[in-house]
Amino acid sequence: MSFSAFRAVARKASLAAPAARNSRVALRNPAFRKYSTEAPKKTSNTVLFAALGVGVAGGVAWYVYASDSNTAKEAGTALKSGAQSAKVLANFVPTKDDYQKVYNRIAEVMDAASDKNYDDGSYGPVLLRLAWHSSGTYDKDTNTGGSNYATMRFEPEAKHDANAGLQVARDILEAVKKEFPWISYGDLWTLSGVAAIQEMGGPKIPWRPGRIDGFSAQCTPDGRLPDASQGADHLRNVSVWTIFYRMGFNDQEIVALSGAHALGRCHRDRSGFDGPWTFSPTTVSNEYFRLLFDEKWVWKKWDGPKQLEDKKTRSLMMLPLAAPSTDYVIVQDKNFKKFAKAYADDEALWFKDFASVVSRLFELGVPTSQWVASEPWVMKNTDEE
Ligand code: HEM
Repeated sequence: MSFSAFRAVARKASLAAPAARNSRVALRNPAFRKYSTEAPKKTSNTVLFAALGVGVAGGVAWYVYASDSNTAKEAGTALKSGAQSAKVLANFVPTKDDYQKVYNRIAEVMDAASDKNYDDGSYGPVLLRLAWHSSGTYDKDTNTGGSNYATMRFEPEAKHDANAGLQVARDILEAVKKEFPWISYGDLWTLSGVAAIQEMGGPKIPWRPGRIDGFSAQCTPDGRLPDASQGADHLRNVSVWTIFYRMGFNDQEIVALSGAHALGRCHRDRSGFDGPWTFSPTTVSNEYFRLLFDEKWVWKKWDGPKQLEDKKTRSLMMLPLAAPSTDYVIVQDKNFKKFAKAYADDEALWFKDFASVVSRLFELGVPTSQWVASEPWVMKNTDEE
């Protein structure tokens, strides 16, 4: 069976979905996220993808249970197709080209933000934040957390305050997942981080698939990611150093990662903070570092949490040391500052270091035996296709 024929079967089976399917970025049935794929006992790719295929059948079964299509006939048809597609999937080993198709689709849905008047016209920043929050829970001492099990699908972790707003990103990607049901959530989320960076003008981020879906029992405890709403004590304990040292990163890597705040913005209804860090929040650039040095940063006078704003335009923001410490601490700490200055002066250097550290970030918590390729791949940008 050709790949497109297979896709047609899989789509028909698992997407016998309600009307919302027609919208490219329609919010998807949240119940669908509740199914998970059992981790395979063996590590061969065939077994891995067979397990993923069974997950699709489970998804269909869940759809039958949760959807409003309530006739027995419809349910029977959906189940039969589900079983059939799982069978197909069991023999399906996706190639790099298949993942490239997923990448291309993500790039497309990212741009749909402009039709929706969302933020600055791209879902790219929030997709990158999802990829980072799904990976940044890693704890090297216990070897738990990280991108492997995509546990943010489940209630305990989805509801952690630090993850406020990431439902937007998960919902967008649910549409892509329905089109490519064979991809694991961890692979999908991290690939979307890669697509976000590359499509917004950033460097190529080496990436490879192999993450598997897990269970709610594998959710990480609250507090591994910075959460602005928990007050000073939490933030003193969860400083930029404790968070990133716990993941295994050094000072240079912490600074390189922080440059991601060239992208996107803070939202009052998510973190409580407000505004973008740069004037071009949908372009990957070293502007974040340049602005930290070149602008004068003063306290914003408002009724919100303490944040800094640029004195000249009062339209940009930086998080201060006393908040979830990042941003301004980068020019306050002597060691951080030297790396930040180097990145402010040399964008190519930052691109190189950023690509390497983000690639590592997205692989945290995934056992080597699970990778489907011995080396990470470089995915093509859509304009290279
Ligand atoms: C200690 C380190 C960090 C802290 C305290 C922090 C804090 C924050 C906060 C408070 C927001 C605003 C959320 C909102 O209101 O929507 C945010 C957004 C964002 N963060 Fe970070 N962050 C950190 C590290 C990182 C890293 C390592 C990355 C990526 C590699 C990253 C990528 C982003 C992006 C892209 C956004 C914009 C999201 C959007 O526009 O919706 N952050 N961050």
